[in-house]
Amino acid sequence: MTDYDVLAEVYEWLISDAKLPPAEFAASFDDVLSLLPPNAHVLDCSCGTGQLAVGLAGRGLRVVATDASEAMVRRTAELSEEFGASVQAVRANWEELPDHFEDDTFDMVFCVGNSLHHAAGATGRAAALESMSRLLRPGGRLVLTSRTWELVRARGSRLDIRDRLVRRNGRDALVIYRWEIAPQWEDEHHIEIAIAQVDATGSVRVRSELLSCWPYRHDQLEAELHQAGLRTEMSTFDLEAENYMVVASKAQTPVRPT
Ligand SMILES: C[S@@+](CC[C@H](N)C(=O)[O-])C[C@H]1O[C@@H](n2cnc3c(N)ncnc32)[C@H](O)[C@@H]1O
Repeated sequence: MTDYDVLAEVYEWLISDAKLPPAEFAASFDDVLSLLPPNAHVLDCSCGTGQLAVGLAGRGLRVVATDASEAMVRRTAELSEEFGASVQAVRANWEELPDHFEDDTFDMVFCVGNSLHHAAGATGRAAALESMSRLLRPGGRLVLTSRTWELVRARGSRLDIRDRLVRRNGRDALVIYRWEIAPQWEDEHHIEIAIAQVDATGSVRVRSELLSCWPYRHDQLEAELHQAGLRTEMSTFDLEAENYMVVASKAQTPVRPT
C-alpha cells in the first residue's frame, strides 16, 4: 500500500468546489492548453482521482494518467468511465515512467496539485523531474503547480481545522490538516490529513493518512528543472500567494553542424 490509498476513497472532500467538475479543472489551465497542437498527447503524472485527466480528454486531447497509488488510478479509471472519456490510466510512480513510455512521447506533462513535494528530497525530485523531462518531446512543456513552501515553513508546525463542513455525494465532512514542519528544509516533513465524515445517524467515520513530504524553495526548483533539461518559461511564484504554477519547456534537440 502506498500513501494516498486510504485518502483515495474520500479524496473529493479535499478538492475545491471549483475544481471538482473535470471541465473546470482543465479550464484552470486554459492558458497553457492554448499552446498545444490539435490532438496533442498529454500526461498527468500524479493524476489523483482523475478530474484533470478526464477534463483534458473532454478537450479532445489524447490523455494518459499515472499515479503511484493503485487506488487513485482505479478512481481515475472509474471517473473516465462515468464521463465516457478516453483516458489510459496506469499505475506508475515518477521513476517508473520511462519503463512504460518511450522518451519524447508527450507534448505536455502535468504534475499538479501539490504532488512533487512527495518525491524524497533533492535526489528523489531530480529523478522525478528527469523522468518527466525524458517523456516530453523536444519543445514540449512541463506544467507544475506547487505550494509556496517558503510560506508554509514560515508558519511552522500547526493544526489547520477547516471552519466549515464540506459536502460531497450528500455527505458532510470536516477536513483537518496537521502540519509537521522539520527544523531544516531538506528534512522529511509530514502532513497528516483527516476527513471526518458525519453520516445520517450522526455517527462519525474518520479516514486519515500521514504523508511524507520534502519541501523546496522556488529558486531551488528552477535550478532542478534546469538540471533536468527544462527551461522555465513562466512562473506565477509570489512569496505572498499560497500556490504557484511553473511552465518549463524541454530544449529542442540541438542541430549538430555537419
Ligand atoms: C495532493 S495529490 C494531487 C492529485 C491531483 N493531481 C490533484 O490535483 O487533485 C498528490 C498525488 O501524487 C501522487 N504521488 C505521490 N507520490 C508519487 C510518486 N512518487 N509518483 C507518482 N505519483 C505520486 C499521490 O498518489 C497523489 O495522487
